[in-house]
Amino acid sequence: MDVKVISGQIQTIEADVIIVNLFQDAHPDGATKAVDDALKGAISEVIDSGDFIGKAGQVAVLYPRGVVPAKRVILVGLGKQEDFKADSVRRAAAHAIKKAGDLKAAKVVTILHGAGAGGLAIDTSAEAITEGSLLAIYNYTGQKKEAPPEVFPKSLDIIVSNKKDVSAAQQGIDAGLAIAEGVKLTRDLVNLPPNVCDPAYMAQVAGEVAEAVGLKIEVLKKKQIEALGMGALLGVAQGSDTPPRFIIMEHNADKAEELDTIVLIGKGVTFDTGGYSIKTSDGMVGMKADMAGGGAVIGAMRIIGALKLPLHVVGLIPATDNMISGNAFRPQEVLRASNGVTIEVISTDAEGRLILADALVFASRYKPAAVVDIATLTGACVVALGTVAAGVFSTDDKLTDALMGAASRTTEKLWPLPLFPEYDKQIESQAADIKNTGGRFGGAATAAIFLKHFVDYPAWAHIDMAGLAGIDSLSGSSDNPYVPSKGATGFGARLLADFVRGWGK
Ligand code: BES
Ligand code: MN
Ligand code: ZN
Repeated sequence: MDVKVISGQIQTIEADVIIVNLFQDAHPDGATKAVDDALKGAISEVIDSGDFIGKAGQVAVLYPRGVVPAKRVILVGLGKQEDFKADSVRRAAAHAIKKAGDLKAAKVVTILHGAGAGGLAIDTSAEAITEGSLLAIYNYTGQKKEAPPEVFPKSLDIIVSNKKDVSAAQQGIDAGLAIAEGVKLTRDLVNLPPNVCDPAYMAQVAGEVAEAVGLKIEVLKKKQIEALGMGALLGVAQGSDTPPRFIIMEHNADKAEELDTIVLIGKGVTFDTGGYSIKTSDGMVGMKADMAGGGAVIGAMRIIGALKLPLHVVGLIPATDNMISGNAFRPQEVLRASNGVTIEVISTDAEGRLILADALVFASRYKPAAVVDIATLTGACVVALGTVAAGVFSTDDKLTDALMGAASRTTEKLWPLPLFPEYDKQIESQAADIKNTGGRFGGAATAAIFLKHFVDYPAWAHIDMAGLAGIDSLSGSSDNPYVPSKGATGFGARLLADFVRGWGK
């Protein structure tokens, strides 16, 4: 779907659908009133009947019978004005565009939601409409014999009544496009089957992203990973015939000296069988999504690059699958990570923290102002927070606040969990410096405290998104109209990009 800005009066526009809006329990005003007047009060009539009150998510379709040139009018509710924010626009735009798509409308024109009475800036509204609309019509069609269904709508024009507002609207559209592209990429990576999305494929996509938005990229293969002494990553990768990759994406690499550096790390386990600590058949289904953290970092880096954010940002993705073979690592082996810390393997299924360990050590070379890792790390975090919020553990309150701010703006929810030093007791080992599991209690926190052994910079945060990737058995809980109810959510890409965008503000 193409998105662009036009200027003019919505009631004079020829289109398959024009979209107008209403705040809950309000009277039509602005462009909605202009359409209502042109329709001789047809919108007011729907409202007066009580059939439409402007509740968030409410949609009504009106047929103008030639009074205005558009074939249909979609009226969408913005919800209560006192609750109104940019996300209300994303949601309203999503509901409206889905309805237009159901009606097989090709050409759709929308007014700028919330830029009048809602008090949003023009670019903010245009960005939210673009983002919400494009994310709402995302549809993973898989690898079926039949050609995928035709996509509707074909075009979305955002109309401004004043020519002087065109450039602000265009700026918003450009940002919305950048965000939607990044999230779509993340969703595709997570949805793809593990025989397609393997470490080499992730590296290839990262390369394409780098090319598209102008990032520096380096992909380390097994020999280079060995040379770096990444024994924890290599231990996990050892059982697989598919070799690992260590992906390094860098935005503003040439300005590393002058700009603050932020490192984003994503777990890239392209399939998690559990290894010799093998998962049950049911527990294994969904584990193609165990690279969702890595996918989120690739998506975020695409957004960050496209938005040309004024920071030095490094994306690191340790990518491997976790398999079984005559050569696979076993429980009770001791691995040595690249910072020299030795790890007794208790469970080969606690592989995510192992590959993250080496990436966290690698991050140190950039002298980062902040490091954030994101991973589908523990079932325990899903038990704690469900599929509603990801857990965030951090060594720095300011960093937590910045992430919580991004979570609130994007509505990709985070909830703080503790890094109490007492958790260290649970991962003490006789055979090595630490062990890779901490027993049944506090499983999300013992994973986080494990990771802390590989951190030597002041501001680090770990996001456990195990419940949020949209993994089969955990999907379908979202009531968000621009997040798919089946398959990958794309969680993390918007969150991380928005965090970087808000850095220092
Ligand atoms: N990838 C899983 C975590 C996971 C579980 C993600 C469910 C999404 C849904 C991770 O590698 C894992 O297996 N974790 C174990 C750790 C345990 C062995 C300490 C877990 O949570 O059971
Ligand atoms: Mn595992
Ligand atoms: Zn895993």
